[in-house]
Amino acid sequence: MIKPLMTPIPYLGNKRRELIHISEYEPTVYNKVVDVFGGSGSISLYYLNKGCIVHYNDKIKAIVGFYDILKDEKRVPELIEAIKSIPNTDDEYKRLHPLALKTLTENKDPDLKMISEYLWCFISTGSCLFPSYFKNLRNDNYYANKAKAWLKFPPVVKDLKTTSLDYKELFELYKDDTQAFLILDPPYFSSTCIPYAKCSIDVYDDILHMLENAKCSLMLIVEFTGYTYHKFKDYIKHTYTKRYSVRGTKNKYKIASQKYHSIITNY
Ligand SMILES: C[S@@+](CC[C@H](N)C(=O)[O-])C[C@H]1O[C@@H](n2cnc3c(N)ncnc32)[C@H](O)[C@@H]1O
Repeated sequence: MIKPLMTPIPYLGNKRRELIHISEYEPTVYNKVVDVFGGSGSISLYYLNKGCIVHYNDKIKAIVGFYDILKDEKRVPELIEAIKSIPNTDDEYKRLHPLALKTLTENKDPDLKMISEYLWCFISTGSCLFPSYFKNLRNDNYYANKAKAWLKFPPVVKDLKTTSLDYKELFELYKDDTQAFLILDPPYFSSTCIPYAKCSIDVYDDILHMLENAKCSLMLIVEFTGYTYHKFKDYIKHTYTKRYSVRGTKNKYKIASQKYHSIITNY
């Protein structure tokens, strides 16, 4: 397995550490990878780095817009400047958070300003919950390092195909393509904390229908629960432990938990 790239942004549900399981259970034959619920892009980046043709999709247009900016090294400094111009204060967070939430839920085509506000509010959620605590950390050096890190991505993502479609549209596009490898990492059913995580139970019915009928290769990564076991038991190939830990400001508290994730495939 090649070493997974760090993602340009932290993201709840990032699968970078689980790529070891994903790569072990990938199909033997495919000519394109479709990252249907792309999020941070950890899966897309891994397969791009492996030399594959990759289609990244996420219904949140702001995050797709971010990947489109990353394709062009001239636009990366513009984005950094836009984020840097947002005052790192609690008041600004209170003002911007509802607007950024609207960007997520209304899902209009975002401009640079909306993408920068979305990134500022959500992408370092931990930091942005306490902007005043982090204001001294977000200095010129911080932004210079961010620019340096993000400027590594344009050569990697330049050929990435991006869309912001509902997963059902992607299913229609690829269901009969025997060479397509669709990776499905939908929002967890048990997540309640952030807007993108809201997921209707229909998604699992649609995925089961695809597992039973589609000609493309499908891999679902899902939390192992009584419900998911019952629903997908005929297709489960592997189950592994996933540790979560959250450290509070100044290391005052640490929350650790362990869950199980399953790899489910139709091949
Ligand atoms: C668990 S996260 C994916 C994490 C990603 N694999 C990673 O490594 O960061 C689920 C993603 O699905 C997206 N999503 C939610 N509903 C969707 C839908 N109906 N169609 C497409 N994407 C959707 C969310 O915006 C979110 O980014």
